[in-house]
Amino acid sequence: MKALILSGGKGTRLRPITHTGAKQLVPVANKPILWYGIEEIVASGIRDIGIIISPETGAEVKTKTGTGDRFGANITYILQDKPAGLAHAVQVAQPFLGDSPFIMYLGDNLIQQGDLSDFLKRFSEKQHDALILLRPVTNPSAFGVAKVDEYGRVLQLVEKPQVPPSNLALVGVYFFSHVIHEAIACIQPSARGELEITDAIQCLINQQKEVVACNLEGWWLDTGKKDDLLEANRLILDTYLKVSIQGEVDDQSQVTGRVEIGPRSKVINCIIRGPVVIGSDCYLENCFIGPYSSIADQSIVIDTDLEHSVVLQGAQIARIHQRIIDSVIGQRAQLTVAPRRPKALRFLIGDDCQIELS
Ligand code: G1P
Repeated sequence: MKALILSGGKGTRLRPITHTGAKQLVPVANKPILWYGIEEIVASGIRDIGIIISPETGAEVKTKTGTGDRFGANITYILQDKPAGLAHAVQVAQPFLGDSPFIMYLGDNLIQQGDLSDFLKRFSEKQHDALILLRPVTNPSAFGVAKVDEYGRVLQLVEKPQVPPSNLALVGVYFFSHVIHEAIACIQPSARGELEITDAIQCLINQQKEVVACNLEGWWLDTGKKDDLLEANRLILDTYLKVSIQGEVDDQSQVTGRVEIGPRSKVINCIIRGPVVIGSDCYLENCFIGPYSSIADQSIVIDTDLEHSVVLQGAQIARIHQRIIDSVIGQRAQLTVAPRRPKALRFLIGDDCQIELS
């Protein structure tokens, strides 16, 4: 059994954060989204992992994630030279996959830990041709959608239908035997110009192959947009964060609940109410940091109240006299109130930024 993780794509829905980096490397609880998928795959017993990368962000994904040693895995990077669809990615990866059955995992998806092993067991024991995971959603038109009969057999799959045949969305985790390669060879690009994996699975269904669906009971998040990213951050902090204070916290500060503070970070006269994760080499002074906040390495936060937010590496926030909530602050971004006159708002705002002032 092998695994194929897709880490290409442009991340347009997470701009401007993804102007300068891969969407799969955006941190959730200070760890790249992609790494949760790798860890989950390794925990299910698979070591041989191929990661699909794009020309734009491939080098960054490779440098940051490495050979797989840190995960106890062996990672092979596979370049997809154009964003031509999920089935195209499988085609490009065929030399790596060979005839092996494999899990395909979309690198910007997060599923609750521990769920993968059970599905893998079921797929391997029953020798299905494909096993897909489904989850009821309120906006099925944004996903691949399945119609399933009363015995759980998949009757029909459609990609982003205007009139969805059900509310069951395809979760971005799939199990395939080698027959998927022949199915991909039969399909044509969709209206959005991509070779859709959904169409390839429909082709397997048409050929009477064994395609089964399982309902994913745990949580699932497609982290493509800001609010999904904040929700993923909330869920991960809520579920997995443990108390660990390695940095310095002075006597004036109050740290309550589950809070992690990384090495060499300094916390002076702050109230920190967990779950909160603060990376290494951060400096926080006179702040309130409320629940569900992640502050990445080398960030500086002074005289500011912040909650339910994600702050990326090296950001600086100072003297903001209103509470910051539901926000994602990019790498090295600076958000300050300057004492100089005239009192005014002064901006240097990058492309696709979203700023809400009250
Ligand atoms: C892809 C798949 C879709 C699936 C979704 C899950 O969509 O094409 O069938 O439901 O991932 O995240 P995309 O994210 O490429 O729009």
